[in-house]
Amino acid sequence: MKILILGTGYVGLVTGACFSEMGHLVTCLDIDEDKINKLNDGIIPIYEPGLEEIVKRNKKNKRLQFTTDYKKAVEKNDAIFICVPTPSNDDGSCNLSFIKKAAISIAKNLNEYKLIINKSTAQVGTLFEVREIIKKELTSLNKEINFDVASNPEFLKEGCAITDCMKPDRIVIGIDSDKAKNILYDIYSAFNIRKDKIITMDILSSEMTKYAANAMLATRISFMNEIATICKKINANVNNVRKGIGSDSRIGYSFLYPGVGYGGSCFPKDLKALAYIAKKNNVNPKLLNAVEEINNDQKKYLSKNIENYFKNTGGVKDKTIAIWGLSFKPDTDDIREAPSLNLIKDLLKKGATLRVFDPVAMDNIKKYFDKEKNISFCESEIEAANGSHAIALLTEWKQFRLLDFKSILKNLKHKVIFDGRNQYHPIKMKNLGFNYIGIGVPDQIQNEK
Ligand SMILES: NC(=O)c1ccc[n+]([C@@H]2O[C@H](COP(=O)([O-])OP(=O)(O)OC[C@H]3O[C@@H](n4cnc5c(N)ncnc54)[C@H](O)[C@@H]3O)[C@@H](O)[C@H]2O)c1
Repeated sequence: MKILILGTGYVGLVTGACFSEMGHLVTCLDIDEDKINKLNDGIIPIYEPGLEEIVKRNKKNKRLQFTTDYKKAVEKNDAIFICVPTPSNDDGSCNLSFIKKAAISIAKNLNEYKLIINKSTAQVGTLFEVREIIKKELTSLNKEINFDVASNPEFLKEGCAITDCMKPDRIVIGIDSDKAKNILYDIYSAFNIRKDKIITMDILSSEMTKYAANAMLATRISFMNEIATICKKINANVNNVRKGIGSDSRIGYSFLYPGVGYGGSCFPKDLKALAYIAKKNNVNPKLLNAVEEINNDQKKYLSKNIENYFKNTGGVKDKTIAIWGLSFKPDTDDIREAPSLNLIKDLLKKGATLRVFDPVAMDNIKKYFDKEKNISFCESEIEAANGSHAIALLTEWKQFRLLDFKSILKNLKHKVIFDGRNQYHPIKMKNLGFNYIGIGVPDQIQNEK
């Protein structure tokens, strides 16, 4: 099948690469000329494990190409996937301007029947708007061309997007025509061999499924963060509680890790958008509001703890804090809504100096804080820790797990580590000579041997 992907970001580029890997002929289009030039020069504009290899292989085999030319791209392809951004508006609703612009560009260049599929996470009902926009544009151009629309929400996780895309848990399609259904079954046939993973439903339910899935996952995170806060107060250890409840097959271990709050380009905006949809329809989104409120508090947790720790030694002003990990989660360079941004801003406001390091997100963080003088952008976690008063772990990159902590301690002024992801064993860290402060780990544990 000849497939056009609109948007070469985390979703579009991965989807395009995986479709081409399965044998489809894929064109990826972006309005960002710089991105397309880079991709044509073999430079991958985002970090996603395994992506570069697949892109290079399929580009070489001529199954994958990149363009900014809407006319040629729309004309020669059979199915068009929309993978453009859907950020939040100020009122929390989903900003549909990118999708609407893409729809108009499709309509202007439509030459014959196409299936137009939306993968962007968007306000429930968006696809009907897209259909109307395209119809209106075709009428104004005096064109009579048939087309169908379909919803196909994306569930990939940054950091393991290739595996998620090649071996999806499920493929949700929202359709209202048999033709659209057949085309989507053809597109996904290679992903659907071992067992039928396609779940077919109406368009509105498909759009809603994506929001409900993200809301559920965010709820588990906020739930565990609240449990961690209670644990700390009553001297229970959330690490033990997590294992105790995760082993229940009705609960499972996924998304049960307390931490510094969820971030990324999806959960925060999708929770807001779902709450907005609820309110618009006279439903009070009590749970969704609580999930967001807990998360906002959690993002301040580490900064409050660091301030509290230094309150008897002059506060964080003039202290140097090392921050390990800046991306919103490991294995990605994405810093959108990352908890590290909150911590960095809070600590700078309080007068701290920062030494930061991330294995792949340094370019993004440098761009974000390019005017800031009190940040040193370090080459390694060791360089960041050297001469600092404290270490704060924000992203659980594997390379931070087994370090030579004895030598790190020698160059650390206050021997304290704030473990924002509960990556280290509290007693082992204590025995090494650290003051260890985790999430939902009681202070008294530091006295245990
Ligand atoms: N990132 C994720 O993990 C993830 C997972 C599931 C769903 N989603 C959803 O997928 C959508 C895309 O997310 P993303 O993270 O890939 O975004 P992104 O910002 O990484 O990439 C979007 C790309 O679309 C391009 N674009 C904007 N308008 C365009 C247009 N009119 N025509 C062609 N290209 C255009 C932008 O230049 C950009 O390169 C969002 O709705 C998001 O919520 C994201």
